[in-house]
Amino acid sequence: MRIAFVYNIRHKYPDPNDPRAQLETDFDDPQTIEAMIKNMKECGFDVIPIEANEDAYEKLKKNKGKIDLVFNYSMGIYGRDRYAHLPAMLEMLQIPYTGPSPLTEALVLNKAKAREILKANGINVPDSQVFYRKDQKLKSSLKFPLIVKPCCRGSSAGITNKSVVENEQQLREQVEFVIDTFEEPALVQTFLEGREFSIPLIGNPPEILPIIEVDHSVTPKGYKQIDSLEIKWIVEEEDKEFEKRHFICPAKIDKKLEKKLKDLCLKTWEALEIADLCRIDIRCDKKGKPYVLDINTPPGLIPPEVSTTSYFPLSARAAGIDYKQLIKKIVQSAVDRYTR
Ligand SMILES: Nc1ncnc2c1ncn2[C@@H]1O[C@H](COP(=O)(O)OP(=O)(O)O)[C@@H](O)[C@H]1O
Ligand SMILES: [Mg+2]
Repeated sequence: MRIAFVYNIRHKYPDPNDPRAQLETDFDDPQTIEAMIKNMKECGFDVIPIEANEDAYEKLKKNKGKIDLVFNYSMGIYGRDRYAHLPAMLEMLQIPYTGPSPLTEALVLNKAKAREILKANGINVPDSQVFYRKDQKLKSSLKFPLIVKPCCRGSSAGITNKSVVENEQQLREQVEFVIDTFEEPALVQTFLEGREFSIPLIGNPPEILPIIEVDHSVTPKGYKQIDSLEIKWIVEEEDKEFEKRHFICPAKIDKKLEKKLKDLCLKTWEALEIADLCRIDIRCDKKGKPYVLDINTPPGLIPPEVSTTSYFPLSARAAGIDYKQLIKKIVQSAVDRYTR
């Protein structure tokens, strides 16, 4: 089977102190992309690597006759709908691909729009407001502390200690930072202080892989209890042991919470018409009620030889699925979808 592997690659290290470097945080290191290609080849696939840049369409068109399936690991490069770009090209070229359609890809990237659809489907989402300008009036239902995030980014881009705001002044400053740096609206949300989980789903209909808890109680002093750039790129880099305490998989949760989390995931999958795979981030409020924060598709799939804490492969391993089996499972679920 011949697979075109479509990816984006990072050109700058994501320094939490350099706003411009944050623009590429959701891309992968060259080392990761190489390791993914190696793994795919070892699965027995014939792999054509294609960077998802401006030349991608021509390369896909030229190779169309040779490609059985595209493994879509792209995020696109420009604009708020960039996750949709490659799937849209593939629809046009009629080349089958892994993962959801352009509409779903654009939606999951846009946290504000995804949230509206989830809410309309009765799924718990945090109370939020979209800021297009920094001087908009804060709606009365939103009470401090709040969190300010870029509307259409992933991998904690724009999420730092300063994202959790305690008052009007901090709110305005952070909204301005997000709008100026990312040239997109800022999403302001109720800050949920409870437990956080990340949940991988695979297949159609999806199987739920072991739930990961991101344990914020082990966060060092001086850092906010969120999955911020500082935690990912400073704390984890400086203290390799930290990761072992930070991620618990399978999460230790009671049956009742487990059922609630799984229900939220399955409803989210259906409401957004996800296909093949995604990872859903959920956080609870003080009382333990869970809310959907973020849907990731494609989710990070860093092979264990590069990182042992990439959520999706880590959870798969806990279910006894090694990295190559995981790649094969993703490919198989796409193949089954196109052939049934
Ligand atoms: N409303 C919220 N309440 C509490 N923590 C949040 C909230 N939104 C985001 N976070 C924290 O910030 C992290 C990144 O936010 P998320 O919405 O998942 O964006 P990304 O696409 O960057 O992963 C989350 O994993 C969580 O720790
Ligand atoms: Mg997230």
